[in-house]
Amino acid sequence: MEKVIDENKQGETLVTQQKTDNSRKLYIESYGCQMNFSDSEIVASILANEGFNTTQQLEEADLVLVNTCSIRDKAEQTVRKRLEKFNAVKKINPDMKVGVLGCMAERLKSKFLEEEKIVDMVVGPDAYKDLPNLVKEIDEGRNAVNVILSKEETYGDIAPVRLNSNGVSAFVSITRGCDNMCTFCVVPFTRGRERSRDPQSIIEEVNDLWERGFKEITLLGQNVDSYLWYGGGLKKDFEKASEMEKATSVNFAKLLSMVAEAQPKMRIRFSTSNPQDMTLDVIETMAAYRNICKYIHLPVQSGSNRMLKEMNRLHTREEYFELIDNIRKILPECGISQDMITGFPTETEEDHQDTLSLMEYVKYDFGFMFAYSERPGTLAARKMEDDIPEEVKKRRLTEVINLQQKHSAYRTLQHVGKTEEVLIEGNSKKSDQHWMGRNTQNTVVVFPKEHYKVGDFVNVKINECTSATLIGEAIGHSENN
Ligand code: SAH
Ligand code: F3S
Repeated sequence: MEKVIDENKQGETLVTQQKTDNSRKLYIESYGCQMNFSDSEIVASILANEGFNTTQQLEEADLVLVNTCSIRDKAEQTVRKRLEKFNAVKKINPDMKVGVLGCMAERLKSKFLEEEKIVDMVVGPDAYKDLPNLVKEIDEGRNAVNVILSKEETYGDIAPVRLNSNGVSAFVSITRGCDNMCTFCVVPFTRGRERSRDPQSIIEEVNDLWERGFKEITLLGQNVDSYLWYGGGLKKDFEKASEMEKATSVNFAKLLSMVAEAQPKMRIRFSTSNPQDMTLDVIETMAAYRNICKYIHLPVQSGSNRMLKEMNRLHTREEYFELIDNIRKILPECGISQDMITGFPTETEEDHQDTLSLMEYVKYDFGFMFAYSERPGTLAARKMEDDIPEEVKKRRLTEVINLQQKHSAYRTLQHVGKTEEVLIEGNSKKSDQHWMGRNTQNTVVVFPKEHYKVGDFVNVKINECTSATLIGEAIGHSENN
């Protein structure tokens, strides 16, 4: 373990030490992917055992943690801005300690302490179980760093504290890390090797959520389709497993059916699917269970075979189309969404046109689109020049976004006139007279509240829509209640 001891800081901690443990307040903020939000719930649980209660009030916090994202430069800048804000608060509350968690912690390691004086503690995504020790270090006035990545840690034994929860939907993490090495992506460096969580602990968490009134879960992983449990260990070591371990192994399709059967009324979602690993088995399992939502987030990044190769995405445009065709055949009602990157090194206008034509073929329901941002240490950063001018990246991005908006509007319109099952999540953003929920495809639906309540499954007749929201009226509870 790497622990940095800052001698200068000793001696200024008596006040913190004298506080009774029960009175300590934790303020935790998360940026980036759903996995980070899920990890923060694990962190809150670990620190609850140390006597920390969470607070929404930054000013009253004894410990401020920020769970960070490194995926694009802009995400890192956002965190640095927040640290400035924490700095200002520390002037009012000098005993406040600040820790950074997550991907930036892993990427920058103890450099963080030098670059940002406000930071007392740096903890990587696999080191959260060490937090009790690390907090002790900072209590005693030393800086603390643990950024060791693990080959086993899945936090399967930790019951997350649900933060900012609507009481209806929750994340359940099933894999950690990523072995894919897409050349643009920093995740394999910040989150380490891919490992899967014991299915039994996943089922237990899902059962517990159901008992506590939750109605929808999202199984989380960077690449859920590559989930593989054979008693623990890295995916890449599966070949070395015993015959018994291989025979009783659980892949993603099997896990999905186990979860769907454990709680037949719980809605099940999952993210993210990777085209190179998504199997027909998974699609067929989705078709076999009504409680598995008909929605697939299927990032492709580019429509050009040459770009896909440079990005080390291990499938072609044609193979992607084949997968889309299979989804449409087996799950005709399925919603599909994308992630797209514009301006990856060497991308030509022709490559960009390939992206637009791929989008025309699929007509995605939703999309998450980004201009390429070079990340230090990735293969692309080491081997390729970031040679597409910013204005070209931005112009291509705008074209991709505009086309996606057109397709989203087209897809949304297809729901009008239908009656769809919606799970009520809470108030509509625009009106407290209306509920907001989602249909199985993950499209937002709003409708008058009447006598329905949060957590109800209702059949909603869709009467009209905006480009991204469906508007309707409830015609009764669905059979799922
Ligand atoms: N595991 C997921 C993606 C995780 S990162 C997958 O299989 O695709 C989420 C998204 O951020 C990616 O899909 C990609 O579109 C985007 N992204 C990742 N690195 C990026 C970079 N360097 N620049 C711009 N966008 C990036
Ligand atoms: Fe990143 Fe590719 Fe994994 S986008 S998270 S390396 S699948």
